[in-house]
Amino acid sequence: MKQIKIFSLALFLSWSGVHGQTVTVQPYLQNPAPDGVTVMWRTAEPCYSRVEYGTDTINLKIARDVQHGIVVANNTANKIRITGLKPGQKYYYRICSEKIDSFGGYKKIFGSTYRSPFHSFTTFESKRENFIAVIFNDIHSKLPVFEKLTGLLQKIDYDFAVFNGDCFQDPSSETNELNVLSCFVDKMNGAEKPLYFLRGNHETRGAFALGWPSLFDWEGNKPYFAFSFGDTRFVLLDNGEDKVDSSPEYSGLIDFADFRNEETVWLTKETESEAFKQAKRRILIHHTPIYGWENKYSPGFIACKDLWEPIFRTTPFDVAITGHLHRYTYYPKNAVGNPFPLVIGGGNTEKAATAILLEKRGNKLTIKILWINGKEEIRLLDV
Ligand SMILES: [Fe+2]
Repeated sequence: MKQIKIFSLALFLSWSGVHGQTVTVQPYLQNPAPDGVTVMWRTAEPCYSRVEYGTDTINLKIARDVQHGIVVANNTANKIRITGLKPGQKYYYRICSEKIDSFGGYKKIFGSTYRSPFHSFTTFESKRENFIAVIFNDIHSKLPVFEKLTGLLQKIDYDFAVFNGDCFQDPSSETNELNVLSCFVDKMNGAEKPLYFLRGNHETRGAFALGWPSLFDWEGNKPYFAFSFGDTRFVLLDNGEDKVDSSPEYSGLIDFADFRNEETVWLTKETESEAFKQAKRRILIHHTPIYGWENKYSPGFIACKDLWEPIFRTTPFDVAITGHLHRYTYYPKNAVGNPFPLVIGGGNTEKAATAILLEKRGNKLTIKILWINGKEEIRLLDV
């Protein structure tokens, strides 16, 4: 009996070792919906990866990625959509990555298989009236500051988190950004809580800026999108760069004009949609505020202000949550020309960093600002 126990422990340690080497980014949930969710993770070596899932941990189905009739395998970047789920249902899942030692035309040789512990998630459903969302901004890859902020969230049962731009500092390489992402995933329990990543101006810069979206799964494959969590509609936008396209820093290699026009056409459609109109609450989240500041780097230019302001004037958002200025500010409705309350999140220093909690209980909507030093501020957003 004792011998068996020792053998089991040795086996466990050996698998832990395989886990440490094989999975380089733990699973993280993307693009959740009432009927599906995407699970993403990375392995160090080429594998045949799939997700085992079910409403319990015994009767499991398998989800894998199939493209043009071919099962995706012999790869390291995994993006597997689980479909056909029931709304408001708790599911369990684990990732499986089976090493591929050789991938020939007529013969494949498989190595060991890693299976993660079981994780769980609950699919979105339209009747929910309560939620807690956590919103971060402007971390600029400063992971010690981020880790300290997440320490404030230990007792908070949040439903999802939003990284509202400039959380990655000028993406330079896939390896570098995966390291940052890994910290965000681990600290915010991305295996069980969906994480939304929005682009700020800094995510549009750097050698890996074009590759950065491949780390995520966005509804509609665009960096702007909307979703419903219970009876609340969330609209998430992308301002693009913070200076005019012709600024010398960009060397003629950015062109946001068409992007912003397309996004604004989409935004108009979204605000006219039934999902938007029927929602009890409407939350706007984007990186660069269009009210309440002057752009000293590009005088007279506030990205998207000319396009979005006419829409916002007649759109009943309950609040806009932004960042970019690295200094927390709250503007009540109409204080600076804003047609709805405006929250600007803090920066990334020991003094200025904040996490924003957006909480809805019934019809009561509250914003709570958590400063890195433990200070708190609560704002009730009235109907
Ligand atoms: Fe910014």
